[in-house]
Amino acid sequence: MSDIKDVIDRKTNTDEEELERQRNCIKIASELVRERSEHLGHSITYHVTTFGCQMNARDSEKLSGILEQCGLTYEDDELEADVVIYNTCTVRDNANQKFFGHLGSLGAVKKKRSDMIVGVCGCLSQEKSAREKILASYPFVALIFGTHNVFDLARLLVIVLTREVTKGRGSTVTEVWDDTDRVVEDMPVKRNYSFKSGVNIMFGCNNFCSYCIVPYVRGRERSRTSEDIIGEIKRLAAEGVKEVMLLGQNVNSYGKGLSEDITFAGLLQKVEKIDCIERIRFMTSHPKDLSDELIDVMAASDKICRHIHLPLQSGSTRILASMNRHYTKEQYIDLALRIRERIPDIAITTDIITGYPGETDEDIDDTIDVIEKVGFDGAFTFIYSKRTGTPAASMPDQVPEDVVKRNFDRVLAKVQEISTKQAARIEGRVMDVLVEDINRQDPSLVTGRLSNNLNVHFPGDASLIGKIVDVKLTQCKGFYYIGERII
Ligand code: 5AD
Ligand code: SF4
Repeated sequence: MSDIKDVIDRKTNTDEEELERQRNCIKIASELVRERSEHLGHSITYHVTTFGCQMNARDSEKLSGILEQCGLTYEDDELEADVVIYNTCTVRDNANQKFFGHLGSLGAVKKKRSDMIVGVCGCLSQEKSAREKILASYPFVALIFGTHNVFDLARLLVIVLTREVTKGRGSTVTEVWDDTDRVVEDMPVKRNYSFKSGVNIMFGCNNFCSYCIVPYVRGRERSRTSEDIIGEIKRLAAEGVKEVMLLGQNVNSYGKGLSEDITFAGLLQKVEKIDCIERIRFMTSHPKDLSDELIDVMAASDKICRHIHLPLQSGSTRILASMNRHYTKEQYIDLALRIRERIPDIAITTDIITGYPGETDEDIDDTIDVIEKVGFDGAFTFIYSKRTGTPAASMPDQVPEDVVKRNFDRVLAKVQEISTKQAARIEGRVMDVLVEDINRQDPSLVTGRLSNNLNVHFPGDASLIGKIVDVKLTQCKGFYYIGERII
């Protein structure tokens, strides 16, 4: 036991020392898991439930990778697993509600299965009020950790497993860091797909859009070095990955703060040179930082996908200023049209919030005007959600619910009308498709993704998964296609 204490309490000064310590924690955790498995008479299983964005999906792959290295095996049913980790989102209140709904259901199961270990991590754990709620109302939760110490799961698992022995059950281990400058590389990862992978290029956000909680829960912006990113993508390529999605809250400001002189466009050019990587995507772009250099690099590339997600948030210059977005309606339209001009087959998608404090019908008219002028290929439309601690939460003129609902419906109807028209532009064409899955409704079909991010369903079988094939887009169904393979 003293050895264990020594490892889990050790101070580390460098990322290499931390990595070494994590390897030791994985060894100790594996031993504890083996003992537990012998005691219970079955292998110990885990389930990671992910809420929210691509960033969380990638973190969950890291959590799963660590748990598997610790000797746990995957269980598909959340309610059946021995260790359940909730990787949470708090960007809007409905994400919180959804999570607490899951936690409530699990509480009933946990009453019958005292051996179950429940952990909560992710963005919601970073909020003090949410942690207090978990501790007060869901005392069966054994572990709470945050967005900055995902890499530390093996050590946290050791603490939970040994605490159960030494202190009795019911004492929640809570380790949440406010921020970090640390990026621990080379930790294990279990990928959800063999042929595509997310790759973090940066963490955190410095933009402080006035409605958004992300900068408070994901910390300050920090970029990984291009050497680490390229090294990771080369390894992925060697393992058979064909498509990478470069991930960051604001990829266009990649490179700031690094000792090397590199921009996001420069990074893309390096990624393009990697053999066997056939498709490159990225997410998310902030319009204020999107450079002409990036447009040039995209236009010249045959690997960078013909899709850009460019959150608009609002079409009203007045609201954009209040949101702290640093662009006007006209600047956004100009940027989007410049992108369309240089890369004609590109799909531009966006995020739009309705119901931001002080928003009027005229502001919505502006948003609708931008939707029409840019011709979005798709949009996520959100109702503004008040996030405690953000500047917008204490603004006067919060918009009444019925007005928000009416405006939301107007925006949604316009988005649907325009994006359906946009999708129909390529009906009848033959395009390359990366096959991702067997179709869920009809197993005689497979589902693939076009470079422009639209899905197409066409006759095929599991042998096609992970392959890039030519498909004729025979029928546009609004936001997806029915097609047939051309050999
Ligand atoms: N309310 C509604 N939508 C929000 N988003 C971020 N914060 C909020 C909020 N408080 C949306 C933005 C962002 C997307 C990821 O979530 O549109 O681009
Ligand atoms: Fe939130 Fe704005 Fe940062 Fe996006 S850029 S994560 S909306 S603060």
